[in-house]
Amino acid sequence: MTKKNVAIFISGKGSNLEAILKKRDMSFLDCNIPFVLANRKDAKGLQVAKEHGIQTYIVDHRCFTSRQLYEDKLLEVVQKHAIDIIVLAGFMRILSSHFIRHFDGPILNIHPALLPSFPGLNAQKRALEYGVKFAGCTVHLVTDNVDAGPIFAQEIIPVFNDDSEESLSLRILEREHILLPEVLRIVLEGNYEITGRRVLIYDDKN
Ligand code: GRF
Repeated sequence: MTKKNVAIFISGKGSNLEAILKKRDMSFLDCNIPFVLANRKDAKGLQVAKEHGIQTYIVDHRCFTSRQLYEDKLLEVVQKHAIDIIVLAGFMRILSSHFIRHFDGPILNIHPALLPSFPGLNAQKRALEYGVKFAGCTVHLVTDNVDAGPIFAQEIIPVFNDDSEESLSLRILEREHILLPEVLRIVLEGNYEITGRRVLIYDDKN
């Protein structure tokens, strides 16, 4: 079987990107990663990609006069590399229905909360301030509604009395690094089915 092409979009330090690359190096993930794309030139994860010999693109949204033109540029890069799956690994831009309609494949996102609670920015801080006893992370499919697509997997993290935003975020992030590659593997192997909002995951569908 030919390997699938996976593109990874980032905005920040790229620890989730690094987790994916490590799992690929260990042969846990069988895919090509033709490029890593960032919307900011100061995204530290670009260095992570370079260290792994992966081509990088910086497509800065501020250089485009509209979201559509920005997304057309993203689509151009994606099409050039015949990408099958996109992973948003800390990509802090919303992709509109324009992008989603024109990309024929799954787009995965990792969110640092137990969706549907705390979608959007500063999820860990808001969860802590709300007083939840369990926080966590979610890997979901990207759809037109922000952080609201069908859920592939979630991990629960207990909140401790002495937690700060930083300590909680760190414990969530450690789980993100396990969960995101696991879901990517399921998607690469096609061991899932989506019925309505539910993602049904199988041990081995084929
Ligand atoms: C993660 O917490 C992710 O859930 C959120 O942004 C953070 C990205 O971290 N969307 P990194 O850039 O992968 O280190």
